[in-house]
Amino acid sequence: MSVIENSKVTVVGAGSVGSSTAYAALIRGSARHIALYDIATEKTEAEVLDLAHGTQFTGSSDITGGSDISVVEGSHVVVITAGAKQKPGQTRIELAGTNANILKTMMPQLLEVAPDAVFVIVTNPCDVLTVLAQESTGLPPERIFAAGTVLDTSRLRWKLAQRAGVSSRSVHAYIVGEHGDTEFPLWSKAFIGTVPILDWETEGHPPMTVDELDQIAVDVRDAAYKVIQGKGATNYAIGLSSARIVEAILSDENAVMPVSTVLDDFHGVSGVALSVPSIVNSRGAVPIRGTQFSPSELGLFRRSADALRSVANDLRA
Ligand code: 2OP
Repeated sequence: MSVIENSKVTVVGAGSVGSSTAYAALIRGSARHIALYDIATEKTEAEVLDLAHGTQFTGSSDITGGSDISVVEGSHVVVITAGAKQKPGQTRIELAGTNANILKTMMPQLLEVAPDAVFVIVTNPCDVLTVLAQESTGLPPERIFAAGTVLDTSRLRWKLAQRAGVSSRSVHAYIVGEHGDTEFPLWSKAFIGTVPILDWETEGHPPMTVDELDQIAVDVRDAAYKVIQGKGATNYAIGLSSARIVEAILSDENAVMPVSTVLDDFHGVSGVALSVPSIVNSRGAVPIRGTQFSPSELGLFRRSADALRSVANDLRA
């Protein structure tokens, strides 16, 4: 993509997710200026050096960073990845207390040096942390949202593409709700090209069954646990997902993406952040109110909302 002149993104957190996000942004040319910020001086400076050493082979983005908050200055987008990550078998929700405190400390500092930025929360549990950060900062909901199920949707599209024998770019299906254990696919609005998902068949790729789709939904929901069990963390796909979101903001793209914003009477749901198809542009993210759910999907959506509302209430207590 052509780099937006003078655009700047800062990735907060130089762990595996943050450094992968910076790496993805560098390779994709997501922004003209990419900064990596973390309080761990030596680690952050080493990540920046290692990224910079490869810039002969990337586009026209430059990479800077360190542990001085001034590296964040002038950012148009700030991607927050800092915090504890899931251990094998641990849920994202179990990280809530620790990471909520980290975010509470960081947000005022970030806002001071990047007062006009759009904030994208990746740190888990990203939906709950988004509600708390939006409340504590008072930012408009569109300007502070979570990457949410953009990654899960990519996982879903990959699985469906493999099964259907098509490009994942031709799979139009979304995971919505929590970026976590209560997420679910919007099967009622899932298509390959213009063909409803259950009607799709081509040579060598017979129609999918409801049982197959149910299994795909489980595999997508549990994908992170499998990767974390095997390699200790997920980082590449969330890095790419985050870089893609940054691009939609910086290029004022009006892209439809399932990011997670604090909802206000969305199908009767308010006061929680959940992923629904949203318009993402330079102002941030706005949920698409025309998104329709089947009755069973609406039930799942409200279940996701209830699960996250109780976690947020516990953290406020
Ligand atoms: C993921 O889904 C752990 O939330 C991260 O890969």
